[in-house]
Amino acid sequence: MKVMVTGSAGFIGSHVVESFEAAGHEVSGLDLRDGADLRDRDTLDRLLPEVDLVVHQAAKVGLGVNVADLPDYASVNVYGTAVLLAAMATHHVGRLVMASSMVVYGEGAYDCAEHGRVRPGPRSAADLERGRFDPSCPVCGEAVRSAVIGEDAPMDPRNAYATTKLAQEHLAANWARETGGSAVALRYHNVYGPRMPRDTPYAGVAAIFRSALEAGRAPRVFEDGCQMRDFVHVRDVARANLAAAEAEPVAGGLVAYNIASGVPHSVGQMAAALAAERGGPEPVVTGEYRLGDVRHIVAAPGRARAELGFEAEIGFETGMKEFATAALGTP
Ligand code: UD1
Repeated sequence: MKVMVTGSAGFIGSHVVESFEAAGHEVSGLDLRDGADLRDRDTLDRLLPEVDLVVHQAAKVGLGVNVADLPDYASVNVYGTAVLLAAMATHHVGRLVMASSMVVYGEGAYDCAEHGRVRPGPRSAADLERGRFDPSCPVCGEAVRSAVIGEDAPMDPRNAYATTKLAQEHLAANWARETGGSAVALRYHNVYGPRMPRDTPYAGVAAIFRSALEAGRAPRVFEDGCQMRDFVHVRDVARANLAAAEAEPVAGGLVAYNIASGVPHSVGQMAAALAAERGGPEPVVTGEYRLGDVRHIVAAPGRARAELGFEAEIGFETGMKEFATAALGTP
């Protein structure tokens, strides 16, 4: 296949390029770092003819700093995707595989013994201040159990990044319906691995801990460190993109998949694994919190396994061992 990868010089995009090339596909790339802007229609008109499939990884990521970031998120993620889809229609490129994120779900899934599946709202500053980190049942206030989240969970984007990722999914679905194209949204869980960008306000926790350890500082674990995530290795994520590209396309709509390892770990465990591999310093559990954080978010990986034949291969221990000393990327 002739494949164009957007964000091809980025953390995930560069691994995607490598895995598609290794599988024998003809790959072209587009990346702001190489001076090619997704929002520039002329660039797309030059690159898209003859392309069979676009793998769309280019995005402004992370939680950002404050509302001053909003225009940039909307421009790069929403407007950029809109320009891409319009150009794909013009050039009859009928297939899209795009990077989405588990942040579209907002909180993870929870079950109350009394009320079944419930959706707790954002945690209050007062609760977090008192060290009450786990959400409670919105009906009875009792403790809830964290459950795995499937792709059909209601969407609840709670920050600018999440909102623009969901908008990208909606735009791709619109494009697929109108053109008969096929769109696949891969909802990445917490991706980590070589070339992960260093510590910035936009970085995920794995990069923050890695950067701290490299500088000889202890990783600062927020809350009580028991918040659960699914850490999935970047080469597995690249393989998921390949699996989506090589799967039989479903025309006329968008299908979303959780892309995860299927084996959740706590943030505290992740800090401990990295620190142990580097020989310290030991992580510090600080009890600090960020109001925008969700408590637990753990994926049900079954749909990707059933429909794309994708299963993560790099386990937590192996992956973190490699990541502890792997080269980081530039943001
Ligand atoms: C992260 C990404 C999100 C991405 C998603 C899936 C960021 C900021 N968030 O969401 O964009 O879509 O993964 O790939 O990139 N924490 C600490 N110490 C720190 C920093 C964070 O303990 O120094 C804790 C946080 O309180 C939180 C957890 O680590 O509980 C995860 O934080 P983070 O990686 O920032 O955000 P996610 O919600 O997992």
